[in-house]
Amino acid sequence: MRTVSWLFVVSVALFISGIGFVIAGARSARAAPAGEAAPVTTPVASIKQIMNGIVMPDAYVIYNAVGTKTSAKGVEEIAPQNDEEWAAVANAAAALIESGNLLLMGNRVVDKEDWIKMTREFMDQGKLALKAAEAKDKDGIVSAGGDLNTSCDNCHAKYQRQ
Ligand code: HEC
Repeated sequence: MRTVSWLFVVSVALFISGIGFVIAGARSARAAPAGEAAPVTTPVASIKQIMNGIVMPDAYVIYNAVGTKTSAKGVEEIAPQNDEEWAAVANAAAALIESGNLLLMGNRVVDKEDWIKMTREFMDQGKLALKAAEAKDKDGIVSAGGDLNTSCDNCHAKYQRQ
């Protein structure tokens, strides 16, 4: 009888410590282990698809956000009218900046010099547009939009569009 009760005590102890390990394991699994490799990403879109699918539509949201329109009523000022409309401009700027990260992925990196430099310039102008949208700064949108357009032209001048 004595041996049986010892076995029982030992197995209960093992069971409890087992639960302890499971809990400790679950806790450490939640915090991303240091030094773990980033998940593998696989580029899919061509540069042309990124231009037509992300860069162009988002650039146009920024270009068209602030300005004037001449109609029968005279010259009308155009600008985002509320938080939602400003957020839409900020979203477009943020997506445009991220498209720069896509241009710096895998074999989209045409070369290690001007391609990287020009993509970064393009992203910097996108960041200025994002800041202006977050600050609801109309003049900031106009000036970032102009410089953004220059950054497109600079890259297209060197890496010919087909
Ligand atoms: C870092 C370089 C780079 C920047 C910056 C850049 N582009 Fe491009 N873009 C290209 C290249 C390269 C092509 C040609 C892609 C192809 O035809 O394979 C292209 C092509 C295009 C096309 C033509 C797509 C087609 O169907 O032929 C449009 C439109 C375009 N870009 C818009 C823009 C706009 C708008 C901006 C700025 C807001 C911009 N791009 C910024 C490199 C760039």
